[in-house]
Amino acid sequence: MSLIPEVIAKPPSARADWTIDQSWTRYSSAQHQVWATLYKRQTDLLPGRACDPFLKGLDALDLRRSGIPDFARINEGLFQLTGWTVVAVPGLVPDAVFFDHLANRRFPAGQFIRRPDQMDYLQEPDIFHDVFGHVPMLTDPVFADYMQAYGQGGLRAMGRGQLHNLARLYWYTVEFGLLRTPQGLRIYGAGILSSASESVFAIEDPSPNRLDFDLQRVMRTRYRIDDFQQTYFVVPSLQALLNVTLRDFGAVYERLEGQPDIPIDALLPGDQVITRGTQAYANKRQAQT
Ligand code: PHE
Ligand code: FE
Repeated sequence: MSLIPEVIAKPPSARADWTIDQSWTRYSSAQHQVWATLYKRQTDLLPGRACDPFLKGLDALDLRRSGIPDFARINEGLFQLTGWTVVAVPGLVPDAVFFDHLANRRFPAGQFIRRPDQMDYLQEPDIFHDVFGHVPMLTDPVFADYMQAYGQGGLRAMGRGQLHNLARLYWYTVEFGLLRTPQGLRIYGAGILSSASESVFAIEDPSPNRLDFDLQRVMRTRYRIDDFQQTYFVVPSLQALLNVTLRDFGAVYERLEGQPDIPIDALLPGDQVITRGTQAYANKRQAQT
């Protein structure tokens, strides 16, 4: 989904649904090494920070610590568990194509891997973000249903011109969502799970706000694509997230009509605040630019 807005043309090598071959045999040993390094770094950091469904999913799938996984191998296990498969795409794909894949339980994943000098950050989703970050959560039956429902809802939202609101829901759940557990806050958002620095920041740093998830609040809140989030939204359970999103958004979109956007760091009277952020990190970054 063009959470990062840009116009994209289908490369000639891609099929009508924008999928390409993963061409697993063509990855170089240096590229496999990039995966192995990122994999080790994240699996060292994530126990006690990632949610159980993610850690369980990581165990259940053959994601290969030693190198880039072969989608054909992942799909054998994943399809058995929840009926999802991973398909390779060249990078970002148009919204309608993205939603159609999700609605059919296919997760479009980037085929390329970042360069060794991009270990800490890159803006486009590569195979490490897409596969390590997103795919383990797809082994959870509830989250698997949520992602499919999101795809269906995306196609409907496009027809109604409401994609900007729905994109924020994706951002603050699928990419940057936190989950409340008896042991403390845990990560389920792939944008955090695939980033070493944000895995620590999202859970431990005093800078960001952490607020109880509220559907309309989330849909009105701006987000940043270029740095750590300034606000995270916390769901009480994945089932609760699925429950509030399963209802028809028609009425929700109508109520949102004409309501102003909420700034990325705002706290509002109705917010259930878990942590009131100092925003020290964001302020420091702003002072530097
Ligand atoms: N219920 C939403 C609608 O009616 C679809 C949706 C489901 C969106 C789950 C996001 C997640 O459009
Ligand atoms: Fe992503």
